[in-house]
Amino acid sequence: MVSLPLDIWSSDDEPRLGVVLDEIWTLLEEGVSDRRHGFHTPVAATMRDSAGAAMRTVVLRHVDRESRCLHFHTDIRSQKVDDLKKDPRISFLFYDRGAQTQLRVDAIATVSHDDTVAAEAWKKLTPDCRREYLVSEHPGKPSAWPTSGLSPELQDRDPTLEESEKGYPEFAVISATFSHLEWLYVCHEGHRRARFDWSKGELDTTWLVP
Ligand SMILES: Cc1cc2nc3c(=O)[nH]c(=O)nc-3n(C[C@H](O)[C@H](O)[C@H](O)COP(=O)(O)O)c2cc1C
Repeated sequence: MVSLPLDIWSSDDEPRLGVVLDEIWTLLEEGVSDRRHGFHTPVAATMRDSAGAAMRTVVLRHVDRESRCLHFHTDIRSQKVDDLKKDPRISFLFYDRGAQTQLRVDAIATVSHDDTVAAEAWKKLTPDCRREYLVSEHPGKPSAWPTSGLSPELQDRDPTLEESEKGYPEFAVISATFSHLEWLYVCHEGHRRARFDWSKGELDTTWLVP
């Protein structure tokens, strides 16, 4: 049987928006598992007094449909953690060229550090992924020379499993629970845009003029 492509073109009814939401979750899940997928590296924006919105690329590590939650990892000493302690609002921007899809997500973040969430995620990381948590100074600290922040013995090799454990105190998981999604599909025939909003409890959906 030949599966039909997503038919969103002539529709303005609710069920088709359900199909779009399903497609969004598929893209997010692909973003976690496929390093080459555009959704693997969203831009995450926090609020910062001196900057308005402070943006940076992160790696999407986990998504959960039930709780509408996205996870990424970070260094507890990084500026974004300070931003989130002052204001837990966080927004994500995803774009995948192949899927011709942009997604904007507004969420509220919690920081997990030295707890069961962080410990579970840490256990799954290989020593080479843990290497970045072995930098001795806090990320963003000015340096008189171009530096990786790593000690000389780790400049040219991955840490052993035992060495990598020293990074755990700096490791944190950011969990972002969202109540607002905006989807934009870009294509030659005419773009399509839709909003999904759970802020009043029930899901509220609407098509938008792109
Ligand atoms: C491809 C790519 C992936 C990145 N992934 C992460 C990440 O998952 N977590 C993270 O904290 N920083 C990640 N970074 C670095 C951030 O973009 C940023 O430079 C760093 O976290 C400092 O941000 P802050 O000073 O706003 O905290 C990544 C950068 C790139 C280019």
